[in-house]
Amino acid sequence: MEGCLLVIFGATGDLTYRKLLPALYQLEKKALLAKNFGLVAVARKKISTNTYIQEAQKAVKVHTGEEYEGLVWDRLKQRIHYHQLEFNIDGDYESLKKVLENLDRDIDGEGNRLFYLAVAPEYFSNIAGAIKRMDLYRKNQGWKRLMVEKPFGSDLKSATSLNEALTLAFEEKEIYRVDHYLMKEMVQNLIMIRAANQIFEPTWNREHIDHVQIISTESEGVGRRGEYYDQAGALRDMVQNHMLQMVALAAVDLPGNLTAKNLREEKVRVLQSLIPFKEDSIEEQMVLGQYQGYQQEPGVREESSTETYVALRLFLNHPRWLGVPFYLKTGKGMKDKTARIIIQYKLPMGSCCLGKNKKIEQPNRLRINIQPQEGVVLSFNTKQPGTVDTIRPVTMDFCQNCLIGMNTPEAYEKLLGDAIKGDQTLFTHWEEVEASWKWVDTLIDWRKRHPLEVRNYKKASQGPKEGAELVDREPGRQWL
Ligand code: BG6
Repeated sequence: MEGCLLVIFGATGDLTYRKLLPALYQLEKKALLAKNFGLVAVARKKISTNTYIQEAQKAVKVHTGEEYEGLVWDRLKQRIHYHQLEFNIDGDYESLKKVLENLDRDIDGEGNRLFYLAVAPEYFSNIAGAIKRMDLYRKNQGWKRLMVEKPFGSDLKSATSLNEALTLAFEEKEIYRVDHYLMKEMVQNLIMIRAANQIFEPTWNREHIDHVQIISTESEGVGRRGEYYDQAGALRDMVQNHMLQMVALAAVDLPGNLTAKNLREEKVRVLQSLIPFKEDSIEEQMVLGQYQGYQQEPGVREESSTETYVALRLFLNHPRWLGVPFYLKTGKGMKDKTARIIIQYKLPMGSCCLGKNKKIEQPNRLRINIQPQEGVVLSFNTKQPGTVDTIRPVTMDFCQNCLIGMNTPEAYEKLLGDAIKGDQTLFTHWEEVEASWKWVDTLIDWRKRHPLEVRNYKKASQGPKEGAELVDREPGRQWL
């Protein structure tokens, strides 16, 4: 990988300690960091580089567990520099600029700068503005890139103004908007399963597919994030980004040439084709829920009506998918922590007329397990042994994480690696964010005008029964 200075704003925060530092540790362990790579950890806390390194080491030990090796850490720590900075004081950026220049000289750097905003979203525009105003990168020498965590705005309006602020300092090709679901192995695999298999791609359309299910549930509640979550809710926290990104990848027309640019253009087409819900039928299309005990979580308003569960049925105005429902379900405080995508095929033509006992009980299903197991399960029909004509469903099961020696890189390791390499494939383009917000805004807006009942559900359950009915009421369908 190319050398660069990685400047993390928010270096004493949860994200840096839990994800970014352990990811850098893994990259160091695999010898993937260039000789002239340096980390400049920036935060408001008044501490020295030595103290920071001690805190960082504790975090890396906890989060890498048995994989921790002192020698690797000793190599990584030499690359770390801490810089104390108030996000709104220009003078602090001036001294940061000097630090960057000196470091570049010391490590024989090429002037490349990767800025990571791991801070609360209200600081995003401030920091991006200061990076430009205070010239924190060298013009015409090396590259500059910006990585931004979610939430990218809280509606279309705020996302647009945030984007305008960022694009004053960085071009679109320099902005890496993080959606960590795109880094999950099996989410990426969706494209390969289609592109590399003649048995799937030709049937990946409305002619053959009955419906698609996209599910991501969690057993944990909101934990310590009550204050943020209570303002956001599951529509903003999960649907606008992770869930719609999975819809986009499942539904996308595969470009002949699978480049980042082509794939993103096709994803934009899918997201722009999301059909807005009709005012009079929204209750048949969306169910919201809240787990019991949510209102007692720290940071959550008493009487809060924020949804911790969403189930919905959407359609795309896209030639490949006209009339095919996509069912989405996400929730906190539910039975399992799991994510999967299921493609349910139509019954074969003529299945009605195979004969008296030859009833097909179950259509073909392709199930892509994203987490905790990673794999693909295909169910199909065969003759029951010992009978003449009884049909029974069986499965072919590929368990990716059961393979010995399989060690898939953690999401943040891949994400940092891709940004250093300049590969934007797995980051979201502004037009994707814009189209997703446009659609989700209509739901949020509708909700404000027609307070939709938020159904209570027990913790560790499958969510409200109305969520199940959203799918069950169609013959031959149920949540899988
Ligand atoms: C985050 C949401 O983006 O994704 C969290 O803000 C959620 O509320 C998390 O818990 C789920 O991610 P994963 O990878 O654990 O499924």
